[in-house]
Amino acid sequence: MILITGADGQLGHDYIRIFKERGVEFIATDYKELDITNIDAIREFLKGKGIELIINCAAYNNVDKAEEEPELCYALNAYSPRDLALVAKEIGAEYITYSTDFVFDGTKNSPYTEEDEVSPLSVYSRAKALGEKLTLDRSFVIRTSWVFGIANNNFNRQVINWSKGRDLLSIVDDQTSSPTYSYDLALYSLKLLATKRYGLYHLSNSGEASKYSQAQYVLDSIGWTGTLNRGKSSDFKLPAKRAEYSKLDSSKLEAVIGEKLPTWQSGIDRFLDEMKMRGEL
Ligand SMILES: NC(=O)c1ccc[n+]([C@@H]2O[C@H](COP(=O)([O-])OP(=O)(O)OC[C@H]3O[C@@H](n4cnc5c(N)ncnc54)[C@H](OP(=O)(O)O)[C@@H]3O)[C@@H](O)[C@H]2O)c1
Repeated sequence: MILITGADGQLGHDYIRIFKERGVEFIATDYKELDITNIDAIREFLKGKGIELIINCAAYNNVDKAEEEPELCYALNAYSPRDLALVAKEIGAEYITYSTDFVFDGTKNSPYTEEDEVSPLSVYSRAKALGEKLTLDRSFVIRTSWVFGIANNNFNRQVINWSKGRDLLSIVDDQTSSPTYSYDLALYSLKLLATKRYGLYHLSNSGEASKYSQAQYVLDSIGWTGTLNRGKSSDFKLPAKRAEYSKLDSSKLEAVIGEKLPTWQSGIDRFLDEMKMRGEL
């Protein structure tokens, strides 16, 4: 049996979709059913369920609010991943958890590999970096970036909302990484899992984009006819510092699974199709 935590979020939703398509049995939980910050509750919940795989999709993802709520952010992004890893070890289950491109400071000019030193710039990214370190063996720790999916708010949805009733938008062009479709993140995580080659991996859709070029792609795709201006991060005073460049190099994962990851543009195309199918576009 498979346990998914944080199952109401973007990634959790797409794991559920894939498991349903494949007829795989799973138990989906979000904090109402299983609060991952409570290790005793996790142990109690798992009793007698025959869990063989724990997929941790739960996280604290509000990068700016984390500056005000470091304790909650560390509980969810550092100590809970460790506790889930411990519990997985106790019951002999495999374990996957997720981290972020934000563990890097953006001073490199080429994609970050798993061998690059982390240098986190914010509470959120320091908590994630610690969570990676505290997670034990027989685990996959997968770093990803700029995730978007149907089940939650994300940058694509924000851009679509901002464009409604407006003919002028300004989006920063000095932050670059890879937008990643949560469906691809789930799908390729499962391909990696099948290899049993535990460890740290980068998994993002291929290609790179600035926030500006991602927004441009979304706006062109939905037929917006307004003007998109280039902004700078310094124009928007946000509490958490962000790296200018945090593109992840996913070639280690691609070599292990023997497949190339789809492009971020293809991810956005499929995400917009999903929105259309649900009448949201
Ligand atoms: N989103 C991104 O851009 C991004 C970038 C890099 C890495 N990642 C990582 O990728 C993974 C998946 O992200 P995602 O975008 O799918 O996240 P998401 O949509 O924010 O989903 C996270 C889920 O965890 C739930 N949760 C919060 N506190 C919990 C608790 N105490 N116990 C159990 N569940 C709890 C959330 O509920 P509420 O919504 O009610 O809080 C939410 O349903 C995470 O590890 C994330 O940090 C994401």
